[in-house]
Amino acid sequence: MTTRVALITGAARRIGAVLATSFHGAGYNVILHYLNSETEAIALQTHLNQLRNNSVALLQADLTDTNDWGSLALECTEHWGRIDVLVNNASVFYPTLVGNVTVDMWQELIGSNLRAPFFLSQALIPALNKSTGNIINIVDIHAEKPLKDYPVYSIAKAGLAMLTQSLAKELAPHIRVNGVAPGTILWPEDKATLSESAKENILNKVPLGRQGTPEDIARTVLFLADDAPYITGQIINVDGGRSV
Ligand SMILES: NC(=O)c1ccc[n+]([C@@H]2O[C@H](COP(=O)([O-])OP(=O)(O)OC[C@H]3O[C@@H](n4cnc5c(N)ncnc54)[C@H](OP(=O)(O)O)[C@@H]3O)[C@@H](O)[C@H]2O)c1
Repeated sequence: MTTRVALITGAARRIGAVLATSFHGAGYNVILHYLNSETEAIALQTHLNQLRNNSVALLQADLTDTNDWGSLALECTEHWGRIDVLVNNASVFYPTLVGNVTVDMWQELIGSNLRAPFFLSQALIPALNKSTGNIINIVDIHAEKPLKDYPVYSIAKAGLAMLTQSLAKELAPHIRVNGVAPGTILWPEDKATLSESAKENILNKVPLGRQGTPEDIARTVLFLADDAPYITGQIINVDGGRSV
């Protein structure tokens, strides 16, 4: 099998779906992981497979629940016999007010944003070593400056930033590990929905004066995967200048 393979977590919707579409457009076969968004995952798979036959496979898994990382990695690796890129994109995001944080919240937020990227990366080391592949973690600019009212999420993303740097050191020279830290790209949903005035406040702090797009993230992730052979251990902020 000569076609390169990208495994993208949380790829049925939103930024993950654009990542999957972009890797596919760059010639990769894609293992499209999802948790609950089965309908969207199947629709995206069908669409992309119509463009190129047998180029997208689905993987359903709860990454906060899993302990059998070896089996998950084996399932991914055996599908096309290789993995070249792992994009750790899946995430849970909601506010946690200090004083009311429960162990379940901690496990969900740390589990999806930090624990899963570590153990999935670790389980895929043999495959990524073989392909001299790379890992790209979707971090957040709030890994550096905490987001008010979101301490557990901020802690998790700060851990993911250190994971990126640590694994870059540990896995060199065969595997590169980098991150992309989005600023304001898509407004959060459900428990994290923002009021119109809160959105306006955020946008007022963006020097480029607009929200970013999922394509802005995908372009940078693809750059790190395909055009950056001498970059490892770096996290690129894609935030319209907000972090400065
Ligand atoms: N949106 C932004 O503006 C923004 C800003 C900064 C950073 N980021 C980061 O960029 C990435 C993508 O952002 P997004 O807003 O597109 O993400 P999102 O919609 O909040 O979540 C992406 C996917 O994660 C999956 N997921 C959640 N819990 C999971 C679990 N326990 N196991 C497996 N999968 C799980 C969900 O899959 P199902 O739908 O299949 O259940 C979901 O669709 C995230 O890492 C996020 O932290 C985004």
